[in-house]
Amino acid sequence: MKTVIANIDSNNPDPAVMEAAGRIIRGGGLVAFPTETVYGLGGDALNPEASARIYEAKGRPSDNPLIVHIADLSDLGPITRDVPRVAHELAGRFWPGPLTLIFGKSDRVPLQTTGGLDTVAVRFPSDPVAGALIRASGGYVAAPSANLSGKPSPTRGKYVIQDLDGRVDMILCGDDSRIGLESTIVDLTSDEPVILRPGYVTLEMLREVIPTVSLDKGLAESDPSVRPKAPGMKYRHYAPRGDMTIVEGAGPSVTAYINRKIAEARSAGLRCGVIAANERLDTYEADLKEGIGTDGDAEEAARRIYAILRNMDDEGIDVIFAEGMADGGMGTAYMNRLTKAAGHKIVRA
Ligand code: TXA
Ligand code: MG
Repeated sequence: MKTVIANIDSNNPDPAVMEAAGRIIRGGGLVAFPTETVYGLGGDALNPEASARIYEAKGRPSDNPLIVHIADLSDLGPITRDVPRVAHELAGRFWPGPLTLIFGKSDRVPLQTTGGLDTVAVRFPSDPVAGALIRASGGYVAAPSANLSGKPSPTRGKYVIQDLDGRVDMILCGDDSRIGLESTIVDLTSDEPVILRPGYVTLEMLREVIPTVSLDKGLAESDPSVRPKAPGMKYRHYAPRGDMTIVEGAGPSVTAYINRKIAEARSAGLRCGVIAANERLDTYEADLKEGIGTDGDAEEAARRIYAILRNMDDEGIDVIFAEGMADGGMGTAYMNRLTKAAGHKIVRA
């Protein structure tokens, strides 16, 4: 398949390009596009064949449901049933933005889009290109992250091209993603709201609106018997090719531990990478050193991590060590993704 690649001004998308992209989606085709979280791979959410194409283009298991993106609050009603009052409070506070809400679905949403579930995940993104595309597409765009299954979510147009050129009809290349991690997902279908995936909208922010909201127990990685409720959270994800370990502890002991392990790995002929706070980068001996931002700045770390993981692969790194970060706020989302990338391998130095 020939993929049309279009560069767009994120703040002022060319209406002719957006109209062409919308026409592709209305005709059952696929368009990758920027959002404030990560790039998405969009298709008509109400067309089961388009959903099937999304799974195929990504190489993704089809029991993993897609998020339906809207660009107007009045489009929520037709695709859902039982919208609780709290949803309107959350929407008023956080939409448009990096928050996905799960509702009971109406008959208009095909089971192919929801991976066979009778619930539907809905997000109203704030990115102007995403908004323009959704409106041009008829209002409902199903979009997973625009990566091949198993790769880190793309935060730059060039990574979307790397993964999807030749597999989709069009790629809209805008700015780098402002947030860098996927949206927070909150399930509103059980008695108490539950966070299924942590993100930029944090537990603390959500509690200001719904004091009873809690993190899904399946996210506490230490208990493997509890399954995460978002089907996508069970798959091995975001994995770099290299063998990755997170090292937690106080700065100096972390540096000493990592440098010792790197010396061992290098003497076995392996290429080593480190992901660390900018201030400590010089204290490491590694083949590739990537600064994650100022120590403790979880928002900056979130923005950078997926590009760094891809770069580790591009540079042929075999063994990766990453400094841990404190939980809480955006640190929870950052550590959630980092832990998955490391296949849950965490040591204390
Ligand atoms: O920020 C985002 O949410 C990005 C951008 C493109 O909007 N999209 C995204 O989609 O991250 P994806 O497909 O990579 O992740 C969707 C997650 C998966 O873990 C999936 O299992 C979960 O949402 N999900 C979708 N529908 C669900 C439902 N009805 N019930 C439970 N989990 C659901
Ligand atoms: Mg994804």
